[in-house]
Amino acid sequence: MTAHFRRTLIDRATQPYRSAGHFAWHFARGKLRGDPVFFGLLEHGLIPDCARLIDLGCGQGLLASWLLEARALYESGNWPAHWPAAPKVENFWGLELMSKDVDRARTALGDRAQFELGDIRTADLGHTDAAIILDVLHYIGYDEQEDVLRRVRAALPTGGTLITRIGDAAGGLPFYFSNWVDRATFLLRGHRSYKVYCRTLNEWLEILKRNGFEAAPLPMHKGTPFISVMLVAKAI
Ligand SMILES: C[S@@+](CC[C@H](N)C(=O)[O-])C[C@H]1O[C@@H](n2cnc3c(N)ncnc32)[C@H](O)[C@@H]1O
Repeated sequence: MTAHFRRTLIDRATQPYRSAGHFAWHFARGKLRGDPVFFGLLEHGLIPDCARLIDLGCGQGLLASWLLEARALYESGNWPAHWPAAPKVENFWGLELMSKDVDRARTALGDRAQFELGDIRTADLGHTDAAIILDVLHYIGYDEQEDVLRRVRAALPTGGTLITRIGDAAGGLPFYFSNWVDRATFLLRGHRSYKVYCRTLNEWLEILKRNGFEAAPLPMHKGTPFISVMLVAKAI
């Protein structure tokens, strides 16, 4: 991937947030530049082509913007030669607890994606081909995490994809640093209190298995001081 391609994709995916205000735009720029997960999802071809993708705890909808622009670049022939095709997602549906984030997502992306205010612990997830939950599950209680995974499994067909990113509580200092930054960002986004329910990587793999998924870990913190692991899971 060239520096030019990297800049182009970041510029295109963040441009829509100019209309959603200073915070939204700067937050989008910082996140897409600093978090390797966004390029990682594309480089590793983790998201399949799908009719429906649900993003639980979608924040201001950055992933939708990212995937839409990635696909547009891919279709225009501006794409790294050794990367898999950018996924074609027909319907992107994001669910988010914070109304400010939902407003920002809707302002930025209009009808290019659907965003709904709701709680992943109670919302009806309907049916989907793929689901993604990035850095969200640790905010909900241990039993609630399992319940969400059970309901995501019920929403997916056998073979459907769930991608989630978690922190590994056995990760030592980088884990504590990740939590410290997470806490600061969480409060900055307007949440009133910060309580988290963390697990070790092995525990995450176990609860995924218990709730109908076969998952493989893919570390995704290269070049950062954080410890975060993508879990790429298939519904079995
Ligand atoms: C660390 S942010 C990650 C946002 C987005 N997934 C990303 O990677 O850019 C976590 C998000 O999960 C949301 N969230 C936390 N608990 C939630 C819940 N119970 N239901 C829906 N969203 C929730 C937060 O409001 C926040 O926007």
